[in-house]
Amino acid sequence: MDRDKSIQLLNKGVADELQAVHQYMFFHFHLTDQGFGPLAALFKRIAIQEMGHLERFAERVLFLKGEVEMVPAGPVEKITQAEAILEKAMAMEEDGIQTYNKAALECSANADSSSKQLFEQLVGDEENHFDQYEQQRNNIKRFGLSYLALQSFGGKAPEGSSAT
Ligand SMILES: [Fe+2]
Ligand SMILES: [Fe+2]
Repeated sequence: MDRDKSIQLLNKGVADELQAVHQYMFFHFHLTDQGFGPLAALFKRIAIQEMGHLERFAERVLFLKGEVEMVPAGPVEKITQAEAILEKAMAMEEDGIQTYNKAALECSANADSSSKQLFEQLVGDEENHFDQYEQQRNNIKRFGLSYLALQSFGGKAPEGSSAT
């Protein structure tokens, strides 16, 4: 097994997760500010899940005797309009799904089955995040921003958002 190759892939995962945590919390602040509480809460919940992903990558890096590079993959984009926020979040999840699927294959070729399994588990989580964002985006498309306002009125979390 080429440990350095796995460590490099895992640190790319750390970078992507850090970027997601920053971007989703930025969305959380702005959606809260706009009075869209439930959608804001969805972003915070998923940001915390991404932090959990980061931790799992970091643990694996340290197990392989590497160092965790805490550098986000990219800067926060200052998007504040709800539908554009969801489009951006869906694109990030799609990118993550692709990256982690490829990384799983590379880890497999590199005879590192634990890292492969980690990437595969996270693919499942990112697909679930994508679904939740897509559902919200579709509802906004169908019903307009009043959907978000009414959701806030009920004070309820969006349907399906409690899934991990
Ligand atoms: Fe993630
Ligand atoms: Fe995600």
